[in-house]
Amino acid sequence: MKVLLTGATGFIGSYIMKEFLGAGHEIVGYDNVMDHTSIQMLFSPEELAEIPLVQGDVRDLAGLIRVCQDYQIDTIVHQAGLLGAADRNYLEAAKVNIIGTLNVFEAARILKLRRVVWASSQTIFGPQVMHEEEWIPNDGMPHPWDNYSSIKTYLEFAGKAYAQKFGVDNIALRYCIVYGMGRMGRHGAYPSQLMVNPAMGIKGVVDYGDDAPNWLYVEDAARATLLACTVPYTKSKAFTITGEIMPMKELKDYIMTLLPEAEIELKPGHYGCGWKFDGSAARDELGYEPYFSAKEGARKTINDVRKQCGLPPV
Ligand SMILES: NC(=O)c1ccc[n+]([C@@H]2O[C@H](COP(=O)([O-])OP(=O)(O)OC[C@H]3O[C@@H](n4cnc5c(N)ncnc54)[C@H](O)[C@@H]3O)[C@@H](O)[C@H]2O)c1
Repeated sequence: MKVLLTGATGFIGSYIMKEFLGAGHEIVGYDNVMDHTSIQMLFSPEELAEIPLVQGDVRDLAGLIRVCQDYQIDTIVHQAGLLGAADRNYLEAAKVNIIGTLNVFEAARILKLRRVVWASSQTIFGPQVMHEEEWIPNDGMPHPWDNYSSIKTYLEFAGKAYAQKFGVDNIALRYCIVYGMGRMGRHGAYPSQLMVNPAMGIKGVVDYGDDAPNWLYVEDAARATLLACTVPYTKSKAFTITGEIMPMKELKDYIMTLLPEAEIELKPGHYGCGWKFDGSAARDELGYEPYFSAKEGARKTINDVRKQCGLPPV
């Protein structure tokens, strides 16, 4: 595969870069910001100098087409987008998240690329009470509840239309809450507050302390992305990518056993969306199952952060 990875210097993008390079694929990064700390944490300056990284914007269709032609790309992994900012600036979210993703589909249509794998979100399913089933099925009804999830929902329908009308093979991956070293404040802070701050000896103040999120370790998200690119055919065109459900309180108690001196304050409340997902479609069609339990992922995150800071592992 010759892959263009948008959002390559961001949190999930950096781990996808590592996963694809490790599997021996040619991959070119595309991002409008070159120096996010996420990518700098995962690669040494010498390694980074070897990776083709192109500064470009997904709002620029001509730029996307040009880079695909220059590098003879056959597959696009599309991660670029606004997260929390999508609900603070609706117009910018329309340009980056909607037009940016349609540009990726357009580039794939015009250049007849073999596949696009792109980041949707579990938030499209909205609150658990909107669903009759205890475990929300892969083809459950969307109930978007904010601008971010409304846009991801629209894009899933747009992706289907591009496949049906223009034959653009595309697979949406609805990652659950992705955590790991490199997740920054712009993503909504609670995984960082629960794991990253305590790992560095800083007090963590964690929102939604009554919630039981579906914790998806970032290396599992990257592996699911590789599987979606390499699997020959899938009947489903969107997959919910799950990790492990664990109450915030239970994960906090575990982290306190690793870091007994840590100060972690759980603020009351729920994030608002459901977390119980039936992950069997991803298992059956992509061969994906999470490797990391929430505790294993939390420990790995803490130790990766501590290593960066020159602290001993726990
Ligand atoms: N982090 C999560 O828990 C989570 C969960 C579900 C879905 N997602 C989705 O996964 C994708 C990646 O998320 P992330 O957590 O890595 O976010 P991130 O903010 O770390 O990465 C996004 C990247 O997109 C780049 N970008 C933004 N606007 C751009 C533009 N106009 N042109 C080119 N690049 C641009 C940013 O510079 C950044 O490097 C997003 O589409 C997000 O909606 C994330």
